This record gives sequence, C-alpha cells and structure tokens, in this order.
Amino acid sequence: MCGIVGYFGKDTKVLDTLVNGLKRLEYRGYDSAGIAIVAKDGQVFSKKAIGKIVELEKELEKSDISKFDKVGIAHTRWATHGSPTLDNCHPHFSQDKKIWLVHNGIIENYKQLKKELESKGVQFSSDTDTEVIAHLVQSFYNGDLKKAVQKTLTKLEGAYAIVVVSADEPGRLVAAKKGSPLVLGVSENEYVLASDVSAIISQTRNVIYFEDGELVDIKDGKYTITNFKDAPLKKKIEVIDWDDEAATKGGHEHFLIKEIMEQAKTMEDSCRGRIVSKSGNVRFGGLNTVKDKIARMERVVILGIGTSYYSAKLAELYFEDIAGIPAKAEMTPEFRYKNPYIDEKTWVIAVSQSGETADSVAAIKEAQNRGALVTGIINTVGSTISRITEAGVYNHIGPEISVASTKAFTSQSIILLMHAVMLGRMRGLSLRRAKAILEEIENMPKLAEETLKQNSNIEKLAEKYHKKNNLIYIGRNYNYPVALEGALKVKEIGYVHAEGLSGGELKHGFIALIDENMPTIAVVPQDSIYEKMISNIEEIKARSGIVIAVATDGDKEVADLCDDVIYTPKMKEEIAPIINTIPLQLFAYHVARLRGLDVDKPRNLAKSVTVE
Ligand code: G6P
Repeated sequence: MCGIVGYFGKDTKVLDTLVNGLKRLEYRGYDSAGIAIVAKDGQVFSKKAIGKIVELEKELEKSDISKFDKVGIAHTRWATHGSPTLDNCHPHFSQDKKIWLVHNGIIENYKQLKKELESKGVQFSSDTDTEVIAHLVQSFYNGDLKKAVQKTLTKLEGAYAIVVVSADEPGRLVAAKKGSPLVLGVSENEYVLASDVSAIISQTRNVIYFEDGELVDIKDGKYTITNFKDAPLKKKIEVIDWDDEAATKGGHEHFLIKEIMEQAKTMEDSCRGRIVSKSGNVRFGGLNTVKDKIARMERVVILGIGTSYYSAKLAELYFEDIAGIPAKAEMTPEFRYKNPYIDEKTWVIAVSQSGETADSVAAIKEAQNRGALVTGIINTVGSTISRITEAGVYNHIGPEISVASTKAFTSQSIILLMHAVMLGRMRGLSLRRAKAILEEIENMPKLAEETLKQNSNIEKLAEKYHKKNNLIYIGRNYNYPVALEGALKVKEIGYVHAEGLSGGELKHGFIALIDENMPTIAVVPQDSIYEKMISNIEEIKARSGIVIAVATDGDKEVADLCDDVIYTPKMKEEIAPIINTIPLQLFAYHVARLRGLDVDKPRNLAKSVTVE
C-alpha cells in the first residue's frame, strides 16, 4: 500500500501541498518518499529519500527544487516489488526522463511487459513493477499525454491508481484508477489528486471519488473525466464533513477502528493472486525457491508472540487437520531457553507483523542453528525477519498503526490456512476439500463485511459491560485461539483482566471464578463441537454467570440460553475462527473507548518490541 498525491494550482503552493499531502498519507507506507515538479519551461525537478517524509523534507531543504510551479506529483512508499532503495522510490520516469508518474497498486503482468520493453532496447533503472508504466507511456507518447496514458492502460493488468505528468506538456496531469483508491479535490483553479481525502482536506472539502475504469485529465486549468475509452462522464462533487484531524484516520476516531473496519479489504489483499481455484492449490511466489524442501518436511513449527502467537495457535490446528502433519505453535520468548525438537526435517514458519520482534528474531536464529528450514509471514517489507528467513510471504495489508494488532491477525490466519492447504495438497489433501476451503477463503471479505455490520450492536453491549474489570473468554477447537486473542485485545487496550480458555478447561479450576460479576464471552458457532460448547455455557448459567455469545446467525437456542448474543454468518468450520475474531476486536475497542483510554497507544506497550 502506498500513498500518492498530485497537484495543479498556485505557483507558491505546489511544494507545500505535496509534502503536507504525503504526511497525511504516511500511514499508508513510509519506506521511502519522492516528489517531482514540472516547471513551466518543461524542466522536471525531483527529489527522493529513503525512510519517512521527514527525510524527504530534509532533502528538499538542501535542494534547488523549484518551489514556484503549478504542477507536481508525490509518493510515499510501502515496498512490495523491490526493496526500499532510492532507485525503487517513486516518482518513476521514462528513459528520456520526460514522463514521470506515481503509482499505488501492483501491476501483475509487469514481468512480461518488462521483457517486451527490454527486447526493444528499453533500459530499466529500478526493480519495481511501476517503472513499466513510465516506459509504456513514453512509447505511446505523440504530443498528447492523455492518449498515451489511455493506450498504456490497455496493456496493464492488476491494480493501480496513477498520476502522470509530461515534461512536454507542463501544466497537465492525467490520472487513472482501477482497483486502488483515487480522489480529486476541487477548488477554484486548484486541484489535488490523492489516495484518500486526508491529503486533500486541508485544501478543500469538495471532492470527487473515482470508480474503477475512470480517468481525469487536468489541462489548461480545467478537469475532464472520462472512462478509459474516452467517453465523457459527469461526476458529482461531494462535500466532506470530517475535520482535518479525523481525516488522517480515514474519518474514524482512532486508527484501531479504521484498521478493524478495513478487514474485508485486507483479507482480499492477503489472497490476491494466490489462489488457483481450478487445481485447488495455492501459489506463493515467495516460497517458490523452497517448495521442494517443504514437500520433504516431517513436522511444522509456527513461531510468534502476542497476537502473532495466537494466529500460530490457530495454524497448529490447520496443519494437523488439513495437511495431516504434526504441528506446534511456539511462543518465541520461551523457545530458545528450552530444548525444542527441531531438525532439518522441520519447517519453521515465523509469523510477525513488524518483522522486528527481538524474541522472534532470536528464536528464528535458534531454529536455523538446529538445521530447520525457516520461512516468514511478515507484514513489513524489508524488515529484519524478512531478510534473515530463507523465503517467505508478505501480508500486503499496508501499515498497521494502532499498537493492538487486528488486521494483521486475520491476514496472518488466512495466509497460514493457505499454507496448510498448500502443504496438504503435497500430502494427499483431496481436491474436493482443498477447493471447498479455498472457495470459502475467497468468500471471506463478504463474510467480514456482514460481520462488521454488527458494530453498533457490539457498541451497545460494550456500554452494558465496559465497567466490568474481569472477563472470561471461551471457545473450543478452532475457536479456542479466538478466545485467547479476544482476551488479549481487551487486556491490551481496555486494561481489563481477561482469561482466554478452552470451554472444556473451564470446569478444571476456572469455574470457581464464575459469579454475577464475571461475564463470559463464549464463541459458539454451529460446528462439530457446538453441543459441547452449549454444555459449557449451561455450566456457567447454572452458577449465575453472565454469558455473551458469538453465535451463528439465527441461532435461537443460544439466544435463549445466553444473556446477549452477537451473530456472525454461517461459515465453514476452518474460516469461522478468523471471522469470529472481528466481533471480539470491536468489543475490546468499544470497551477501551468507553473507559476513556488511549486506544491507539495503550500504556506500557509498543507496536514493535525490539528488545528481549
Ligand atoms: C508487541 C505488540 C503486539 C504484537 C507483538 C508481536 O507485543 O504490542 O501487538 O502482537 O508485539 O509483534 P509482531 O510484530 O512480531 O507480530
């Protein structure tokens, strides 16, 4: 995920608008940033820097970049193709340095396009997928930027929002969207293009949201919108009612709720291009080099800590059930102080959002010393763990800013489930079951959307229960890790003491805690262990306990038995735990908010713990 900005307007404002826009979009990625301004005489001034926007600002202060021109583009990067180097930093340009552009998205057929361009003698200066667009626009350019962009778009597969400028047409910007967001802010003789309104709001509240397949041409101080085939479109200008501050969180009060609410999209991003439905298989480009080794493994160990450990706990069940292989989740701070059973027949999968957690780095080294194959599931591109593991898979869900992890958990869990299917197919998993699981994975964004609609019901429940200082969470089989993660969330951000338990464990000690002041949140979907969970709930009710259930939509039995119920859609057993986590995230969020706490930066915690 990256952030893009384009500006046409007043001579004196171009640089400030671009830099301020980037700062607002920094949450989308901060591996590197760059800017290009087209002067009236056709000169292009560009500056780039690795790291956060502040690094770019330092470069700009030192530079002779033109501060007084009408048109510019800018980009803040969350690296996907190519590590965060200056060469890979946007804006990218054509070989004659006349076409410059910024891009958010992934060009899926870039390798093939690159090959074709190289065979015609084009030289590439970066490892990015984006650069092909600049060369293609140049190859089609014949004095009209819009026509050249339109021709280029017919060649591109994948997702993109692009803003393109040409040194031969100073004062013109052409932007197009398919699959990645793009918004135009409109004020008098001034236009701002950006990935979201947060970069526009300080200029104007009048915006046009683009749909896929739409293109805008800003020329001679006017804008025209067409589809990719040049048919004119009339678009409504909408007025935003957010304040400037809230806009940085996409209109939400906190980053946490923004990240919870975007999970339908991040689930989709985690799977994009990775499911091969026909053959009931999974394709992870990052594991190609180790696929043969993986096929020979005799056991799987999944490493993680915090929320990442709970996705590992879920994966332990996935691997045993789906791939039929012994599997174990290991908590990284403990791992190297015991004598773990790890050898060259062990596939170790390290799970980490940040890719920097010191305990996890140490555990990986320990596993490597013992001869294991270690691969990663990491969100942060270029992070330590992504570099020290032999191979791996990125989450592709953009930066997670709030300290408590939410969208990373659901993404990690889906990717781990896909790992289990991949290994399963090497070990005799039937095509039928594999296909059924993959089909349901593809359906997950819809299921997540349905579940997120429960937000206001869950808020009401939080109003009822937010003053309780102790909570128990129970679940069984696939939903046991959900209980653990639900309890962790409310501890982290609500400062509520909570225990995550297996439903069956309750009667072996914990049930002594049950009374009218100790509510239990029971994750009880209609699955193979439903009756057992019902018995566990009965045990609590018999002792005057309060039970809030997360149950399958329309389940009357649970509704009658429990004090409150949150419904999630009917789902396959393997998928249910991932979706069932969402209501628990929402519950913890509302509890913390109602308790008046700093939701995004809870006390004593850090997003990435780089000390042991
Ligand atoms: C910290 C964070 C947790 C996170 C854990 C593991 O404790 O506060 O939210 O789950 O680290 O982080 P990782 O980046 O390795 O997933």
